[in-house]
Amino acid sequence: MGEASASADPRRRAVLTLARVEARRAYAARLLGDASPFQRELVLGVLRWQLVLDRLLEPHLRQPFGTLDPEVRAALRAGLYEALRMETPAAVAVAEAVRVTRFLVPAAAGLVNAVLRRAVASGWLDDARAPLWLRHSHPQWLVERWASWLSAEQLAGVLAANQRQAPMYLLAAVSPTGELAGEGCEVASHPYVPGVLHVRRGASAVAAWLGRGQGYAIDPHAVAVARLLPEVDGVVADWAAAPGGKSLVLGRERPGARRLAFDRHLGRLLAMREALLHHLGAQAPGVVGADGTAPPVRPASLAAVLLDAPCSGTGTLRRHPEIRWRLTPGELEALASLQRQLLAAAAAAVRPEGWVLYATCSLEPEENAQVVAGAALEIVPINPARLLGIPVHHLPGGGVVILPGEWGDGFTVHLLRRPAR
Ligand SMILES: C[S@@+](CC[C@H](N)C(=O)[O-])C[C@H]1O[C@@H](n2cnc3c(N)ncnc32)[C@H](O)[C@@H]1O
Repeated sequence: MGEASASADPRRRAVLTLARVEARRAYAARLLGDASPFQRELVLGVLRWQLVLDRLLEPHLRQPFGTLDPEVRAALRAGLYEALRMETPAAVAVAEAVRVTRFLVPAAAGLVNAVLRRAVASGWLDDARAPLWLRHSHPQWLVERWASWLSAEQLAGVLAANQRQAPMYLLAAVSPTGELAGEGCEVASHPYVPGVLHVRRGASAVAAWLGRGQGYAIDPHAVAVARLLPEVDGVVADWAAAPGGKSLVLGRERPGARRLAFDRHLGRLLAMREALLHHLGAQAPGVVGADGTAPPVRPASLAAVLLDAPCSGTGTLRRHPEIRWRLTPGELEALASLQRQLLAAAAAAVRPEGWVLYATCSLEPEENAQVVAGAALEIVPINPARLLGIPVHHLPGGGVVILPGEWGDGFTVHLLRRPAR
């Protein structure tokens, strides 16, 4: 059964997307490219609330949940989420889940009907004594490690933010509202990241406008992170640059600076080059296909490096809710090993007294403070004046964690400097 024939049926497409995310470790946000708001909410909502949904479904099943076909699991989760958390009348949501199952796995339609009817009748999890991780549908191990260093208030904020839809934010030379007059769009300035627009209404129309190359969708905290790179005289390299958001910020805001952008993945690199040329024209950096662990750069030749390293993404769970279900503590170690190699190469490429801004969209110490601790670089405390308004947690070693919240994703940032000699 092809994706194309499912495209006119948002529920069927949502179930297929969910099955693919689970069975093939695909990223939902990528599969949802042109999806309708309904389909997006259904897929991302199920992924956010998966643990709670499974707890509500399991008592009504005679076989272990994990032994069902991925499409059947997805239809059960989607049906229950739509019935209990969306505006669809519950009976319609159940009937639609049964219809989709009859199409995809006909033999399981009866099971889906019976289980959903009983689960819908039992209602949503409403137990204030349930542990925080269950109430917020996160893996226990992840919440326990955050609880070991965040305050109770910070933790509650992070968990709540991860369970909400991420709004659309953008950088654009002009607001889209003039051109989209009559389409009900409403945008406002971001409360603390200057120049970023928050799309309050009309995201679909704005997405189409962005698709015509008029502006660039970007997370506000990603903009704030790029701005933490000190202004320097000399060449600046964006070490792992695709899709190019931070290079775009630097190109817009520091015209005339000499800049390079590396990435190892050809497809991402080519897309980035096109986007940067389109948005920056002559201010686009030189784009180079390179492995950041062995880059084509002379030692001690650069004034600064922005190393926004590949990472687990635990600061981006509201945009990528599935990450929480597939990440394991062991994977953090594997990522840290690559991050250490990237940082060592960046440290060797900057000149004495040159800067490395090391950032990840992960909140985990293994990928941040512990990586930085092993580098031949000094940690320079980030000037609090440059963080004005951003909700941060200061790390004892001098880095900051930008907390994921209503107004942006989570990042950890360390400003590093190569010693004079
Ligand atoms: C977090 S993303 C960078 C996001 C980017 N800075 C932005 O703001 O749009 C990490 C990037 O690292 C790239 N990458 C992974 N391993 C790499 C390596 N060994 N060398 C260079 N780039 C690498 C990935 O392709 C990915 O594009």
